[in-house]
Amino acid sequence: MESLRKLIYQVINDSSMITATISQLRKKEGISYTKVQIKPVELKKVLRYQFAYYYSNKIVHKNATEEEAITLLEELFEQTFRQGLICTSEADYQILISKKFKVSILTKSPSRSEVDLSHNRKKQYVLEEGQPIPFLVELGIMNEDGKVLARKYDKFKQINRFLEMVEDVLPSLPEDRPLTILDFGCGKSYLTFALYHYLAIQERRTLNVVGLDLKADVIEHCNLLASKLAYNNLRFLVGDIADYNELDKVDMVVTLHACDTATDAALEKAVRWDASVILSVPCCQHEVFTQVKNPLLDPLLSHGILKERFSALATDGVRAKLLDLMGYRTQLLEFIDMEHTPKNILIRAVKGDSGDRNQLWKEYTEFRDFLHISPYLEKVCVDLLPI
Ligand SMILES: C[S@@+](CC[C@H](N)C(=O)[O-])C[C@H]1O[C@@H](n2cnc3c(N)ncnc32)[C@H](O)[C@@H]1O
Repeated sequence: MESLRKLIYQVINDSSMITATISQLRKKEGISYTKVQIKPVELKKVLRYQFAYYYSNKIVHKNATEEEAITLLEELFEQTFRQGLICTSEADYQILISKKFKVSILTKSPSRSEVDLSHNRKKQYVLEEGQPIPFLVELGIMNEDGKVLARKYDKFKQINRFLEMVEDVLPSLPEDRPLTILDFGCGKSYLTFALYHYLAIQERRTLNVVGLDLKADVIEHCNLLASKLAYNNLRFLVGDIADYNELDKVDMVVTLHACDTATDAALEKAVRWDASVILSVPCCQHEVFTQVKNPLLDPLLSHGILKERFSALATDGVRAKLLDLMGYRTQLLEFIDMEHTPKNILIRAVKGDSGDRNQLWKEYTEFRDFLHISPYLEKVCVDLLPI
């Protein structure tokens, strides 16, 4: 399935899909549509993917963002259908999935020419190339003419990808007052500057943004850059996430690649502030790795590399379930980071009801006990959980 996931990610990320058809139900029971057709459409100048579900007597349409389209396509192939055709301007990809989920992808010459979406099909980035954007110039990503340097294009795309995720959660942030945002473990703060530029300058929101990190030299550099850019409501502080207690209320908490349980310390703060939005990309994971054990999982856990990956995934599953339990609707999304690892998971949690707490608690505790783990986030949030 990995090759198929890569293909899906590539055609959506490049905006190269012209059309796709998914067919041949894996099993007929429980699904009442027989085929799904997907095409890109432009809605209010934004690229969306229209999914047409073919039932016996009707067609139901659903429009999806890029992220949603990736998830929907993965689900349709992994759970429901065994055949697909994805047409792009470069090639047609014929996909066959066996009963045992073995994927074969046949690449053929393109059968479709590019469609005109009534406007242009060039990917609409949140930050556009062509006009110099001061923070990108300062960070050496753009030149003074607003051209993105070839070797920095990946970084430019990553910044835009992050801002797309922020754009998606804008409706969940309060609109009637200045926003307070905390970036925990901000490091060199590329994305903190991007966030500030996008919200304060493009979206004209009044902000109070704080970046916090353990490293004094990095923080000094970030403060110098913020003052050079006249980003007056962006400040950087030296400190440990777990000890930070300067603010009473924060609307959005961002934590990107904070190591191990530093991510959990940031999630705890966010929940206690009742933050409307949490965006978190976890980093290296040690805690569960040292705890997890269950003889039933021995074929997996006896291999260091599998144990490491499993522990990281289990940790994020635990975090998502605990956030749901503490009043959030949590999604795990793919986040691309060129500098650290090729692929990462972004936890996006938005204040809201995730359903029956007793049921969530049962699911959580069964999973935790099955793995014999004692997660940091549960321990520090014990008073917020239905124990
Ligand atoms: C891998 S860097 C990521 C930097 C930045 N967020 C990014 O994504 O580019 C992780 C940062 O988290 C900081 N960090 C780790 N543990 C921390 C803690 N307990 N409190 C504050 N900062 C922490 C480190 O100093 C480091 O700068």
